[in-house]
Amino acid sequence: MKYTTSITNIVNEHEFIRGYALEELIKNHSFVETIFLILRGQLPTEKETKMLNALFTAAIDHGPGTASGQVVRITASAKNNLHTSLAAGILAMGERHGGAIEGAAKFFQFHVGEEHVAGLVKTFKQEKIRIPGYGHAVLKVDHRSKALFDMAREVGFFGKHCEFALAVHDALNEQSSKPLPINIDGSMAAILSDMGFDWQIMKGLFIIARVPGLVAHIYEEMTNDAGLRRLDQGEIEYVGR
Ligand SMILES: CC(C)(COP(=O)(O)OP(=O)(O)OC[C@H]1O[C@@H](n2cnc3c(N)ncnc32)[C@H](O)[C@@H]1OP(=O)(O)O)[C@@H](O)C(=O)NCCC(=O)NCCS
Repeated sequence: MKYTTSITNIVNEHEFIRGYALEELIKNHSFVETIFLILRGQLPTEKETKMLNALFTAAIDHGPGTASGQVVRITASAKNNLHTSLAAGILAMGERHGGAIEGAAKFFQFHVGEEHVAGLVKTFKQEKIRIPGYGHAVLKVDHRSKALFDMAREVGFFGKHCEFALAVHDALNEQSSKPLPINIDGSMAAILSDMGFDWQIMKGLFIIARVPGLVAHIYEEMTNDAGLRRLDQGEIEYVGR
């Protein structure tokens, strides 16, 4: 079976990533720079590094109440090993949690430049389609998004996708009875789109950012060992037939 790749290979006992010797990357470049390199094929500028670092920091964890946070803790409490619990948490990411970044980026990249934003939002609302990247189960304002947009303005990545994402936010909130903040998936999707990332890779970027948080929750669960996590019986309503 033959693979043709421009990503990584071992040549004469040395590993090369996108044409750079790994020893050089180890000595002279950060993990964030190397993530950009491996995904995009070239080393990032200083501004790209600063922005990507901020994006990963913003998404590193969101507490044990999230779908993936709960799942890793429950799985670890059942005495699975670390990577099984981690895999379970990643598999818990879907269109409503973690995976919304992909739908948001696809929506932004397909519709950016749309002049009638209010009309577009209205159509989605009439068809009862939720726009990914907006809304939050707990927060009315997502301060992570605000901090990221501030950084994007500072380093020059607040472009047409960010403008569009905020225009959608305004139109959506004019038409909604409930506050629908632009959440972490939405702000990451808009900024990464302005940085030139394709929507098809977005979920990977969210997972890269969130894995350290999930590992920390699993490790805490393993070492504190609060026993097997289970719903209280009072939280289960049996309706029978
Ligand atoms: C995150 C989310 C699940 C939180 O849901 P919630 O706070 O429990 O809100 P509800 O499911 O009770 O919805 C409340 C109302 O807001 C609307 N709404 C919620 N999110 C919406 C969105 N992204 N686009 C349009 N309308 C939305 C619902 O349709 C509902 O309207 P209705 O009362 O007229 O039926 C929800 O906002 C959502 O599905 N967002 C899109 C996915 C996403 O971005 N996920 C990442 C979260 S960080």
